[in-house]
Amino acid sequence: MAATNLGSTGLRAPAGGSAPRSRGRFHTLEVAEVRPLTAESVEVTFAVPEELHGDFGYVAGQHLALRATVDGHEMRRSYSICRPPAPGSISVAIKRDLGGRFSTWANSELAPGDRVDVMSPQGTFTSALETIDGAHVVGIAAGSGITPMMALAHEVLSRSATSTFSLLFSNRSTLDVMFIEELADLKDRYPARLALHHVLSREQRAAPLMSGRIDQERLERILSELIRPDSVDEWFLCGPFELVQLCRDVLEAQGVDAAHVRFELFTTGKPVDAGGDRGRPVQVEAGEDTWTLDFTLDGQSTQVESPISARESILNAALRVRPDVPFACAGGVCGTCRAKVVSGSVHMTENYALEPDELDRGYVLTCQSHPKPDTARVVVDYDV
Ligand SMILES: Cc1cc2nc3c(=O)[nH]c(=O)nc-3n(C[C@H](O)[C@H](O)[C@H](O)COP(=O)(O)OP(=O)(O)OC[C@H]3O[C@@H](n4cnc5c(N)ncnc54)[C@H](O)[C@@H]3O)c2cc1C
Ligand code: FES
Repeated sequence: MAATNLGSTGLRAPAGGSAPRSRGRFHTLEVAEVRPLTAESVEVTFAVPEELHGDFGYVAGQHLALRATVDGHEMRRSYSICRPPAPGSISVAIKRDLGGRFSTWANSELAPGDRVDVMSPQGTFTSALETIDGAHVVGIAAGSGITPMMALAHEVLSRSATSTFSLLFSNRSTLDVMFIEELADLKDRYPARLALHHVLSREQRAAPLMSGRIDQERLERILSELIRPDSVDEWFLCGPFELVQLCRDVLEAQGVDAAHVRFELFTTGKPVDAGGDRGRPVQVEAGEDTWTLDFTLDGQSTQVESPISARESILNAALRVRPDVPFACAGGVCGTCRAKVVSGSVHMTENYALEPDELDRGYVLTCQSHPKPDTARVVVDYDV
């Protein structure tokens, strides 16, 4: 979650988050259950064998990268974990994206007994609060943005008897609401500490405030009538880029400290092919100007030459010689391709994943990084 090189967006994320970053590794897991949530979404539960319990430990709010071959193409996509940590299984929820290849495949083809490559949990969309006792945590989600909120709400409410969680959840209609029964069950379990506010854009609700799209005016009214910002210790935002940006702007205008606002983007809205064509072939012609990449992964150092004219990213160059280099979205969103620059100077195009303190310590997203024009050699370390 986060952003610093800002790209064209200006989004920045706060430092913090209690989830330690470790390098993701794929393991093949068996699908234990595929459970329909709505007509357009499923919850997929993987069985985690005992020897992998350590690899699949996680903090509420983290996500998994899945890797599968769909229509003959290897694809990787990230999905947020939707249940509180429990050994033996791990669950994600996948909403079918209209025209989306992986999510359509997962919703129509994936079945119990199938085996899928699943990367160990990643991500820093996690609480940075030192204590949850007495804390008021707010989640604002739209559509599939509810997925990490399910794990976060469980976590906040179960870890302390004095914490409260308010959820503002936007959907088109009741039929689109993922986890509608689980949210009602959670409300039954914590009637006084969970506040649920469903906003439906294409369905009339009893309260006019809860009918329609969340725009600036509606959000400001919700913040003045239902969720008062001065009562909130930490905010989690997850949904389309425009909603996340709107919430951040409105909260900032209301004096909320950005350090208490955490956000996760599922997509930047820009098309990227997060899949098969990473590590695209690049030829080095004799006499051509090149730059050199040296990288360390799993303790092994590897070198590759890249023609300057190919303008390939550090990730692409590394993948040409080591297919096990970690990545998932290839769009600067998930943070899976993070590495530390040991030497050389790089330019990062987009960053929606690294925290400011990670940038200060020299980390970059290798899928978004290219050597600066005066840099002939870049050294990065994926292990630290
Ligand atoms: C950290 C993180 C967590 C996430 N968590 C979740 C989650 O919990 N649940 C969830 O459902 N999703 C989640 N996502 C999103 C998920 O990873 C996928 O991006 C999503 O499922 C769409 O993948 P797809 O392969 O189905 O769509 P794609 O095939 O990648 O297409 C995406 C969209 O682009 C459009 N498109 C594709 N190609 C083109 C083109 N050439 N021109 C124009 N438009 C095009 C498609 O119609 C579709 O709408 C998460 C993403 C990240 C980064
Ligand atoms: S692979 Fe997702 S940020 Fe680089």
